[in-house]
Amino acid sequence: MRLDQFVATASPLSRREAKQAITRGRVRVDGHPCHSANTHIDSNACVTLDNAALTLAGERYLMLNKPAGVVSATTDSDHPTVLDLLPAATARGLHIAGRLDADTTGLVLLTTDGQWSHRITSPRVECPKTYRVSLSEAAAEEALRQLESGVTLRNDPKPTKPASIRRLGDREIELTISEGRYHQVKRMLAAVGNHVLALHRQRIGAIELDPALAPGAFRELTDAEINSVT
Ligand code: URA
Repeated sequence: MRLDQFVATASPLSRREAKQAITRGRVRVDGHPCHSANTHIDSNACVTLDNAALTLAGERYLMLNKPAGVVSATTDSDHPTVLDLLPAATARGLHIAGRLDADTTGLVLLTTDGQWSHRITSPRVECPKTYRVSLSEAAAEEALRQLESGVTLRNDPKPTKPASIRRLGDREIELTISEGRYHQVKRMLAAVGNHVLALHRQRIGAIELDPALAPGAFRELTDAEINSVT
């Protein structure tokens, strides 16, 4: 396969953009910059674009640190969306694997791989999600035990599944849940007489929000992170 075809297949770049990236020295083959779009690429060659490895599988996987005020949707006429935080070529074809409320911050996963995102969002799989929760009232031990064993949400008779909790401070907890009901964390805390002031998603399964990512920043997932979702 020609190098420009390889880059265009394995990255969000169009064929024309791939050619430009190659002539500008952004593409390396087996560690060496390659400026010629018609170079033949062996199947076992290591091709990088801006030092990120490209694979021909074609599926893409990203993590993003969502800032407050950005909606977890692919389009919205009133507010910026998480896809608006990405360059248009990168955003192409991506969908969100597990939404957050507009005022919730932290880890959002984006992918082109529908089967992979299904394993994160399907209620049957029970993929755990961990949130750092800031509260308006001190968290009473009794309330935390109730949250751990399951509470009944307003307008929803089915009790929540067992959760795990780590106390981080008087008014701050880390809460891990394996369901994704509408506004679940806020409604769980309301069910024990408290109120969520700020909510931040820290982890999905084994994928931890990269502390190097400033709000609004994103990066590709590593192979280990992608393969941790089983
Ligand atoms: N629970 C909520 O209440 N909001 C979120 O954004 C995520 C979980």
